[in-house]
Amino acid sequence: MSDLPNTPSWNALKAESDRLATVRVRDLFADNEERFADYSMEAAGLLLDYSKNKIDERAFSALLALAEEVDIEGARRRMFAGERINTTERRAVLHVALRDFAMRAYHVDDENVSALVQAELDRIKHFVKSVHEGTLTGHTGARLNTVVNIGIGGSDLGPKMAVTALKPYWADGRSTHFVSNVDGQHLAGVLDQVDPARTLFVIASKTFTTQETMTNARSAREWLVAHAGGEDAVAKHFVALSTNEQAVTAFGIAPENMFRFWDWVGGRYSMWSAIGLSIALQVGYENFEKLLRGAHAMDEHFRSAPLGENTPVLLALIGVWNQNLLGACAHAVLPYDEHLALFPAHLQQVVMESNGKSRLLSGAPTECSTGPILFGEPGTNGQHAFYQLIHQGTDLISADFIAPALSQAPLGDHHEKLLANFLAQTEALMLGQTEEEVREVLEAERRPQDEIDALAAHKIFPGDRPTNAILFEKLTPEILGALVALYEHKVFCQGVLWGVNSFDQWGVELGKTLAKTILPEIAPLKNAVAPATRHDSSTNGLINWINSVRAGSGVAEEDETTS
Ligand code: F6P
Repeated sequence: MSDLPNTPSWNALKAESDRLATVRVRDLFADNEERFADYSMEAAGLLLDYSKNKIDERAFSALLALAEEVDIEGARRRMFAGERINTTERRAVLHVALRDFAMRAYHVDDENVSALVQAELDRIKHFVKSVHEGTLTGHTGARLNTVVNIGIGGSDLGPKMAVTALKPYWADGRSTHFVSNVDGQHLAGVLDQVDPARTLFVIASKTFTTQETMTNARSAREWLVAHAGGEDAVAKHFVALSTNEQAVTAFGIAPENMFRFWDWVGGRYSMWSAIGLSIALQVGYENFEKLLRGAHAMDEHFRSAPLGENTPVLLALIGVWNQNLLGACAHAVLPYDEHLALFPAHLQQVVMESNGKSRLLSGAPTECSTGPILFGEPGTNGQHAFYQLIHQGTDLISADFIAPALSQAPLGDHHEKLLANFLAQTEALMLGQTEEEVREVLEAERRPQDEIDALAAHKIFPGDRPTNAILFEKLTPEILGALVALYEHKVFCQGVLWGVNSFDQWGVELGKTLAKTILPEIAPLKNAVAPATRHDSSTNGLINWINSVRAGSGVAEEDETTS
């Protein structure tokens, strides 16, 4: 168990970062023509170039020494061995078992879980085939061509991201909608678009108790029953993805319409399990399996490659270097592929719910910052929104640039332009532009001296903004699987480096509990209730303001707009 500032490596790393403080990355490139070859590598179809970070041989060796010291290899072994490394929940962490096509047997305690995984995959395969071939139909006998996936967090973000990313692989005539927010507008907006006779509701919830999901699921069931004219239709239009058979049965979904996973699959690592059913329905089982196989290829690399040639380990170490030693305050993930638009949102949960912790495994406070703030948007859109701050803002932000060499939808010179922007941004962020260079450009433009003097300072780019580039041939299911697994293992390694439990999420509980206690205090529409008094004055004030609107003028306005 590490706490970074107390590791023997910390002082060595501090010394390296102090030494490099005045060194420019552009000079590191000038001094070493082989820098790209030295600081890049390929694994599982992904090229990782980390040469534009401020590291050199000595800093890299110090980082590797840290990886050895915190025993990433031992932690990795324990995860793959099914040990209960999620100590606060006493659970194993075995999402790798969901995608192990080398057919290794994984055990949790004495139970062989690989056989369970295979049996459930076979059920998914059979179910998808039956829906696609029309042997399973809706209550009228019509084919089920539409899925409404109802889930939230890990039961929504991963599948939604993958379905969006794999658009070129969508099965003909099929559509999938995702409903997550308890805001009724979300479900209502989707129900408006679908045909009850042809819609399959996939209720995705590990616990089957999550307020948002159960509320949406109940409303969807009422809608279906109302449109289908009876409860009998539910069996034909609802399936559940869960670990909680009792709650699924209590909801009214029979065990044969339930696809199972297990407590050793964390919600944010569950898209590889039955939670991926909506992906398989949209892209076909074969493509879903290719996604799993891609992740497995990354697992094989991660479990066997030496630390210094192991892409998840390298990303983790560089992340720690940029954040804890060089002071980066956030990390941007910038996919130059429109189909990866939801990749940053999925990673936000994987990264921030996993490592957004301030306690070590022992319960003692950490002495350094942990899980980074992660944000991102597809390029080139982000360039016209927030890149200004990354280039010239006062805070250091690290970034991963992700792009395919080939487009899935070649159109004129669009992809060449996309790639040119991708490359230009990483180059500009690294190189920057000195005052001397700025003045040279302005002089070449024959600007008057007073204008040059006034503008020069504003046009300086500091450079040395750390970036990684991740390239691949094109966004296939296998590549997507490898890419997601790369980040999952990076997060795992960073958890080990920071000494935190990456697999629990106690920080989401307090808000959930308080929401339950506040719910009865929100007045039903057109009802007056006694003023709230038991909270702090802000919460009381907000509740009372909401209730006054709901009891009076707000309702009148609503009636006017809907009449
Ligand atoms: O609120 C956080 C969380 O517990 C996530 O970890 C999880 O992915 C999400 O809620 C949904 O949980 P469930 O799948 O049990 O509905």
